[in-house]
Amino acid sequence: MKTGLSLRIHHVHPHIHACLLLILLFLAGTSIRAAERPLLPLVEGDCPKCHSFKIKKIKNAGGKHAEVSCLDCHPRQHVPEKGSTVAACENCHFKQPHYEIKDCLHCHADPHMPMATLRDPAKPARVECLSCHGEVGKEMEQAEGSHAQLYCTRCHKRHGYLPECLDCHKPHMRSQPAAACRRCHRPHNPQQVNPAGWVPAIFCGACHRKESEYLASTTSKHGVITCVYCHEGAHPSKPRCHDCHGLPHDQALHRQYRGCLSDCHGDAHRLVSKK
Ligand code: HEC
Ligand code: HEC
Ligand code: HEC
Ligand code: HEC
Ligand code: HEC
Ligand code: HEC
Ligand code: HEC
Ligand code: HEC
Ligand code: HEC
Ligand code: HEC
Ligand code: HEC
Repeated sequence: MKTGLSLRIHHVHPHIHACLLLILLFLAGTSIRAAERPLLPLVEGDCPKCHSFKIKKIKNAGGKHAEVSCLDCHPRQHVPEKGSTVAACENCHFKQPHYEIKDCLHCHADPHMPMATLRDPAKPARVECLSCHGEVGKEMEQAEGSHAQLYCTRCHKRHGYLPECLDCHKPHMRSQPAAACRRCHRPHNPQQVNPAGWVPAIFCGACHRKESEYLASTTSKHGVITCVYCHEGAHPSKPRCHDCHGLPHDQALHRQYRGCLSDCHGDAHRLVSKK
């Protein structure tokens, strides 16, 4: 800067040389006086003079922050004054679990457009997610097993992304579709198997081949009933004959034979009549 100025002065006419010197001296004088004066506080209307880019950003993509003024978030004196020039998020966002998780800019990358720059956390997240999805947290608290210990982001790689069980597990039988898993398992508590809706017998048969084959080949009326009609509720449930049939025979017979299966009918899935 200094060398540039002196170079130019060197090549001009001596008259002008003297004039320039006078002007420079005058400028130096005023700047000394200006430094002695206290700075006027900046007002909202001053910001666009130097920060037009920022203004454009917040107007176009700031979302609801477009309605917040610069000075609400930058309340103190401008640089180079000492002290923080930025209000904490918690000043205006409070009394909700989501506003207590800290490190807001980890996900809302740019405070001037906090939703437009929303990104997925780069580190494993759990409490952050539970600040909004409390019901999932409650379900996982009740769960035993290893799913409950996993970070949410292990499975939900992006916000809103729904993984499939088959991303990580093999099915119980060949060509069992991903949608079938949810007939029996809940994603956040998969060990508690609770069949619901239409569960075809072959799904149970993947692990209980004998019962499945018996039932498929029997000519008794039990053959047309699905497994979960009898085995209702959480796995493994075992019904009793009396639940559905009461005491179908005369009292004397029931007094003589106590075990419906062992004494007479053999197997619930392949009824016989051994009279
Ligand atoms: C005369 C020009 C000018 C005006 C007017 C101005 N600024 Fe600045 N501002 C600057 C410059 C230059 C910087 C330093 C830029 C940098 O560090 O990249 C700056 C930096 C900042 C910073 C960053 C401070 C830091 O610690 O990094 C904030 C915040 C800021 N300005 C807010 C405002 C607000 C709010 C207004 C309106 C009330 C305003 N500015 C008005 C020129 C101005
Ligand atoms: C909702 C609060 C909020 C509002 C409104 C806001 N800012 Fe900021 N601003 C911040 C925060 C927080 C930072 C610090 C960012 C960081 O640490 O990465 C920041 C940083 C800055 C910076 C310096 C860093 C950078 O990104 O260049 C400037 C300059 C700035 N703001 C100017 C403005 C101006 C001008 C306005 C008004 C148009 C404004 N801000 C409105 C919260 C806000
Ligand atoms: C000076 C007050 C103030 C500060 C500080 C502030 N906000 Fe806000 N913020 C608001 C207001 C007001 C709204 C609109 C709220 C509403 O309508 O419910 C808002 C809305 C938001 C929204 C929703 C935006 C939308 O378009 O829906 C997000 C996200 C947000 N703020 C994040 C932050 C983050 C992150 C910080 C810290 C960097 C922060 N805010 C700091 C006042 C503030
Ligand atoms: C782990 C990532 C993450 C962190 C950290 C985070 N947020 Fe959010 N925030 C989100 C997501 C995701 C949404 C949008 C949810 C949706 O789709 O509506 C959101 C939405 C918001 C909203 C608008 C919806 C509402 O609840 O009113 C505000 C305001 C907000 N965040 C403020 C904050 C503040 C303040 C902090 C820091 C205390 C913060 N966020 C930290 C992920 C995060
Ligand atoms: C600020 C509150 C907020 C935070 C924080 C948040 N979410 Fe969400 N999340 C929502 C809202 C609101 C929706 C529904 C909006 C939609 O459909 O896009 C949603 C949707 C979802 C969905 C899709 C649900 C469906 O039925 O399609 C999943 C999965 C999800 N969030 C997981 C997460 C995970 C994992 C995290 C942590 C990394 C997280 N969320 C953080 C508010 C939040
Ligand atoms: C992102 C990978 C991932 C996805 C998606 C996933 N799991 Fe898992 N699952 C695991 C891990 C890791 C374990 C811990 C045991 C291990 O290392 O194999 C596990 C364990 C299990 C267990 C054993 C019980 C336990 O808690 O230890 C069951 C049952 C299970 N998963 C069922 C499911 C079902 C059903 C789905 C779909 C709703 C599913 N998983 C989706 C990764 C995944
Ligand atoms: C082992 C993998 C796994 C983990 C860990 C996991 N989820 Fe999920 N999540 C799933 C699967 C699978 C679905 C169901 C997808 C579908 O409906 O097809 C799901 C569904 C959801 C939904 C949609 C609504 C619902 O309940 O069906 C939300 C919200 C959600 N998860 C949030 C979370 C949060 C928050 C965490 C951490 C506390 C978390 N998840 C941990 C696999 C997982
Ligand atoms: C008809 C009900 C049913 C369906 C459908 C079902 N499961 Fe299971 N699953 C079970 C039962 C019952 C167990 C527990 C077996 C035990 O206690 O060893 C189990 C255990 C598991 C286990 C942990 C033990 C192991 O084998 O590693 C995983 C993982 C699993 N299932 C994944 C799946 C996936 C993936 C699907 C969908 C393709 C699926 N399940 C569909 C009933 C079902
Ligand atoms: C992934 C394999 C698997 C699937 C699928 C499965 N089971 Fe099981 N089941 C087992 C295992 C292992 C046991 C024994 C361990 C136990 O008691 O939890 C068992 C136990 C049972 C028992 C109790 C057995 C006894 O002697 O007490 C019944 C009844 C049963 N299952 C019925 C079903 C029905 C009905 C279905 C279909 C909705 C089904 N199972 C699906 C693995 C499975
Ligand atoms: C008509 C009702 C009914 C149907 C349909 C049925 N079960 Fe059963 N199942 C029973 C009863 C009752 C028992 C208990 C027998 C006992 O007390 O010894 C039983 C017992 C079992 C057991 C325990 C093993 C044993 O021999 O005690 C398994 C495993 C089982 N069933 C699996 C299945 C499967 C898999 C299906 C479908 C392919 C199925 N069941 C269909 C009524 C039924
Ligand atoms: C969940 C209900 C349920 C249970 C438990 C159950 N049954 Fe049945 N059973 C039925 C139904 C439904 C029929 C068909 C009735 C009809 O069509 O009139 C049937 C029919 C029968 C028949 C007539 C078979 C035929 O082909 O005519 C016998 C015998 C029988 N059950 C014995 C048993 C025995 C023994 C047990 C215990 C091991 C048992 N049932 C458990 C529901 C059940």
